[in-house]
Amino acid sequence: MSNSSISVRKFDAVIVGAGGSGLRAAIQLSEGGLKTAVLSKVFPTRSHTVAAQGGVSASLGNSEEDHWHWHMYDTVKGSDWLGDQDAIEYMCRKAPEVVVELEHFGMPFDRTDEGKIYQRPFGGHMSNFGEKPVRRACAAADRTGHAMLHALYQRNVRANTQFFVEWMALDLIRDESGQVLGVIALEMETGEVVAFHAKATIFATGGAGRIYYSSTNAFINTGDGLGMAARAGIALEDMEFWQFHPTGVAGAGVLITEGVRGEGGILRNSDNERFMERYAPNAKDLASRDVVSRAMVTEINEGRGCGPNKDFVLLDITHLDPATIMKRLPGIREISIQFAGIDPIQAPIPVVPTCHYQMGGIPTNFKGQVVAADGVPVKGFYAAGEVACASVHGANRLGTNSLLDLLVFGKSSGDSVIEDVASGEVMHQDLPAGFADRTLARLNRLNTQTGGSNVNETRLELQRTMQKHCGVFRFKDMLVEGVAKIVEIEKEVARTEIKDKSQVWNTARVEALELDNLIEVAKATLVSAEARKESRGAHVRDDAPDTPENPNGRDDANWHKHTLWQREGSSLSYKPVTMTPLTVESIALKTRSY
Ligand code: FUM
Repeated sequence: MSNSSISVRKFDAVIVGAGGSGLRAAIQLSEGGLKTAVLSKVFPTRSHTVAAQGGVSASLGNSEEDHWHWHMYDTVKGSDWLGDQDAIEYMCRKAPEVVVELEHFGMPFDRTDEGKIYQRPFGGHMSNFGEKPVRRACAAADRTGHAMLHALYQRNVRANTQFFVEWMALDLIRDESGQVLGVIALEMETGEVVAFHAKATIFATGGAGRIYYSSTNAFINTGDGLGMAARAGIALEDMEFWQFHPTGVAGAGVLITEGVRGEGGILRNSDNERFMERYAPNAKDLASRDVVSRAMVTEINEGRGCGPNKDFVLLDITHLDPATIMKRLPGIREISIQFAGIDPIQAPIPVVPTCHYQMGGIPTNFKGQVVAADGVPVKGFYAAGEVACASVHGANRLGTNSLLDLLVFGKSSGDSVIEDVASGEVMHQDLPAGFADRTLARLNRLNTQTGGSNVNETRLELQRTMQKHCGVFRFKDMLVEGVAKIVEIEKEVARTEIKDKSQVWNTARVEALELDNLIEVAKATLVSAEARKESRGAHVRDDAPDTPENPNGRDDANWHKHTLWQREGSSLSYKPVTMTPLTVESIALKTRSY
């Protein structure tokens, strides 16, 4: 195959990914009259947003007083002050608007007795600047993401968005000036390679939790957007920060929503103790996720884990009214029965922290424009949702801020595209000669390599390395060793081959191409983590412990800055955290406690 044999399809805009952020951006574009293509590896309503359970945050104040300023404060504090305050203000102010809009798209939220959207408490969301938990998570039982995805998809059907289902984007197309001109993509069924030539490209490819062995993420979450961006010379931001959700089903990793604790669930150790009272006397089980996950691992490491191997703790809701469980947490009961063999009405659920979310990603501003390492927006390139780093989550995300992030920045990236197309800031440019060379070389390698490495074995090695060397707690020596290991694994990835080259269906080819993306994310993560010599949010190192003088292990003097990892030479640079909100006073740095 050569560049000239690749067919070219022209659109105003191409969106890669049909989860919440991709679908929200697509509504904006299609309703705005732009010819829009949405590419997705799976049918849109099977995107990973479908797995979000507990809610979407917005300070609606439906059940008690709430304000966007409190939401903003909680988000900055949750981020351990690494979040950019302009983007956080924008998100928290926009939250009520995008949630009500979603309601008008047909989202079937649960209701209060007065018919308002039902809201439950969630970790780290507090009233009056950290005083006590507040009801801010707008929920559809424990299936909020599922309901949201269907509402957004249906609205897109109405808007005539054009979907390309079971298509995998392989690489970005950039010209010599650096402008993004679309993507090269593979139709998974036929193996056809097509260039989607567009004025604007939005990445909404979701996360990359599959770099870890144990993850709540779907198997499709292989960091495709991050891999494509890195190969195209875009730096990745804050990749050392990964969230471990406290409550994955032990042994299975399946998510048990934090909404369980929002409804009154309690974490207990082998002494039946509510141990979170010791770690977070104020918020207790509703402290932020990094705090709860570390507390759980500490309990296990100190011998107070449960079960024959003392390797999990228990999430107890046996004291709740069974009617509440059936009404508010029906999916959790089902998951618990299916994956743990336990009915939570009768017995507590065995849980362990499990990789859940990447806080870092492709650097963007609050308008959803991708920003290069020199601080200048990359012409024609936008990103939203988990693949993007706006950065509203900083070093640790609060639960339910992910669904909010994808609504707010899906919409704002769509608005930015409309503006940039209308003003002529972005327009169709000719595809450069050899625009698909890099992609064709990768495909060629898979087709012709013999005696190469096995995709499944190499991926497993990568996942085990990440789990062991870059988990909830991080150790200096393990990080150094992890970087060396991942560099070796990278060499194996470069020589993977498809064993059965005669196959018609492209599953093995797709898995090999996904591994090309996983390795970029894993390397960015380990290199960035090894370099950050402090503890902050989800990144906690043994050589940067809490001390009475510095209760968070943070080193603001040297490390209050964002990491930028560049694939070329695997080099690092840093940029300042934006402490200047759009309209209000900044939230000054202080010690974080719950
Ligand atoms: O616990 C949960 O329901 C997950 C929510 C989130 O990650 O925002």
